[in-house]
Amino acid sequence: MQSGISNKYDNNMPNVKFYKNEDLPLEMHKVRIVQKLNLVPIERRVEALKEAGFNTYGLSTLDVFLDMLTDSGTNAMSDNQLAAMMKADDAYAGSQSFVRMQKAVEDVLGKKYLLPVHQGRAAENVLARTFIKPGDIVPMNYHFTTALAHILEVGANIAELLHDDAFETSSTNPFKGNIDVDKLVAFIEKTGVDKIPFIRMEASTNLIGGQPFSIANMMDVRRVADKYGLLLVLDASLLGENAYLVKQREEKWKENTMGDIIKMMTGLADIVYFSARKLSSSRGGGICTNRAELHQKMEVIIPLFEGFLTYGGMSVREIEAIAVGLYETLDETMISQSPSFIKYLVENAEARGIPMVTPPGVLGAHVNAAKFCDHLPMSEYPAASLGAAVYLAGGIRGMERGVMSSVRDENGVEVPSDVELLRLAVPRRVFTLSQMNYILDRLEWLYENRRLIGGLKWVYEPRVLRFFLGKMEPTSNWPNRLMEKFRADFGESL
Ligand code: F0G
Repeated sequence: MQSGISNKYDNNMPNVKFYKNEDLPLEMHKVRIVQKLNLVPIERRVEALKEAGFNTYGLSTLDVFLDMLTDSGTNAMSDNQLAAMMKADDAYAGSQSFVRMQKAVEDVLGKKYLLPVHQGRAAENVLARTFIKPGDIVPMNYHFTTALAHILEVGANIAELLHDDAFETSSTNPFKGNIDVDKLVAFIEKTGVDKIPFIRMEASTNLIGGQPFSIANMMDVRRVADKYGLLLVLDASLLGENAYLVKQREEKWKENTMGDIIKMMTGLADIVYFSARKLSSSRGGGICTNRAELHQKMEVIIPLFEGFLTYGGMSVREIEAIAVGLYETLDETMISQSPSFIKYLVENAEARGIPMVTPPGVLGAHVNAAKFCDHLPMSEYPAASLGAAVYLAGGIRGMERGVMSSVRDENGVEVPSDVELLRLAVPRRVFTLSQMNYILDRLEWLYENRRLIGGLKWVYEPRVLRFFLGKMEPTSNWPNRLMEKFRADFGESL
């Protein structure tokens, strides 16, 4: 299949072999702007954690050495993106920057109607307010925190329809993000189409470890949607990486370009939305479709929450960066950088006995905190505790993706999460390979000393999205004991 556009970005991976057959992810870029990093001593790290309420979101970057909290808005931007930002067209209405973004969306995602929003969750707000009514249930492969929060806010709920083995953290299933089509059909038959506003498919399913779905699966879901007259909505925030793994793992698509694969996936969806903070290494978001009536339905909400239809809460400079970033998503060399570093981290961590989510996914390397901290009960938040401990061990800031990122049931009872993970995000082209080796070193030390890691309990628990702003405290004096062991093993080292 030929991609709709051919341009300089739509290229294949260079073939570089090492003489001794080493499998190293070779950087295909040079670093021309750098930011100095600080590694504060562990004594300061203990204090910083206390100030942060043992929540890695609460840390100041002044106290963080390797910031692996997220790839959201932290991917390295290209020289071409930065250059484009200089010629932005500042206008409230009718900006040519927006026209350029529209053109990029049409070229890359194949959708001609575009609504701009300030980031991904704003798109979720628009979708929820437009299509979902109280009592509805949205079937999906798996939730993302903000998607779930918006659906709950309008009085609806979700049904997660992954295959049962998607939660096996140690696995060889290349497509753990696939929807179980039998479950989907059974769900629709039982629920009735009137209570189903749309089917949601999330590319590179974030919360189970950045795991992709296959095109074959999306085609099956499309057939079901057609049969029952349901809309299919694609969360394309991590679409580039999902496309890259399709090329790597789905036989039928090996020879296709990134452009072909991306267009195939977006073509199967009625509505595509994205966080540009991830998709195009910039800051903003969008909702796009080829169906005028759907576009019109959503359009009226944009001026209420986002701004006028040609900026949607974004700066025009960022809009220019999104346009260029979308084209760069077609560059396999660029997209492969983060997944190949993640693969390096996961395979080398596993080789040291550290339990990781396999196969390696995208966005970040995911540590199986339930297993790493199998001495801690779920009620003491093992992944959040591990997140605090990894920061203590190396100034490395990860993100809890487990029970703390979930919600209590309607009786206020904590529900064990499907997976209990610590995510170490690897934003595109930000880190070097020696930094990966440092992470492996500190993780190995921590794994050998894992019994010293204790639990956490809430001090302040917000009602919605509690993991962002919540404050915790340790259940014992374990952070100090871990610090003492660090000093005994590493001496004066930072
Ligand atoms: N959908 C997915 C799959 C995401 O990963 C995110 C954000 C959103 C929607 C919301 O987009 O942040 O621009 O409002 N993920 C970030 C993360 C926050 O760290 O994984 P947003």
